[in-house]
Amino acid sequence: MSPPPLPPTPVLETERLILRPVRMADAPAIQRRFAQWDVVRWLHATVPWPYPDDGAEEHLRRCLDEEAKGAKSHWAITLKGAQDDCLGLIDLWPYDGETRDNRGFWLDPEYWGRGLMTEAAERVTEYAFETLGWTELYLNNAEGNAGSHRIKEKQGAVIVDRSPHAYVGGEAMRVTWRLTREAWRARRQGSS
Ligand SMILES: CC(C)(COP(=O)(O)OP(=O)(O)OC[C@H]1O[C@@H](n2cnc3c(N)ncnc32)[C@H](O)[C@@H]1OP(=O)(O)O)[C@@H](O)C(=O)NCCC(=O)NCCS
Repeated sequence: MSPPPLPPTPVLETERLILRPVRMADAPAIQRRFAQWDVVRWLHATVPWPYPDDGAEEHLRRCLDEEAKGAKSHWAITLKGAQDDCLGLIDLWPYDGETRDNRGFWLDPEYWGRGLMTEAAERVTEYAFETLGWTELYLNNAEGNAGSHRIKEKQGAVIVDRSPHAYVGGEAMRVTWRLTREAWRARRQGSS
């Protein structure tokens, strides 16, 4: 089943962030911020490591191609007032009926622990549920990836599977979550 193409990736705003579509000019920042062991260790083993010198350019070319086809949305995470500096990425793509995985994200460790990815994930989730009209998201993380795990938990997702998976840092258990629009809305209403 091939899902319908996504609309062009919009600029999304949060309290502290502007999430904007990625561009080739983000390559130097991504090369510098992404190529760190703490960032890649819990990512899919398909991520090349050691990271090649043209890794960010190559990745961005793929992102822009997916954007052009409406297959995925790729946002650069930027602080308000510093929108040229890409601190990390957050990506969203539709369920194809097979692969239970709809979102990816990473952030430069310099900015971890300030709630920034929770803020980005909440806004992108709102876009998926309230603008695109999706009713559920499947999300994944390695069991040992406490930060990523916690974000799903905070969003109201529920664990639906555990299975071994190949990560850059080696084989580990992968946790698969399902976040329904219903549960997400109920949690938001409860916390407002
Ligand atoms: C996962 C990642 C995006 C989190 O970004 P972040 O901006 O630090 O996340 P937030 O601050 O919004 O939230 C992280 C939550 O996890 C918690 N957390 C982080 N590390 C933790 C740890 N070692 N043990 C327990 N909780 C932890 C934080 O306390 C916070 O929860 P809280 O709000 O209840 O206190 C970031 O660590 C990252 O880029 N990792 C590398 C890439 C990656 O693994 N991507 C995800 C692949 S599935």
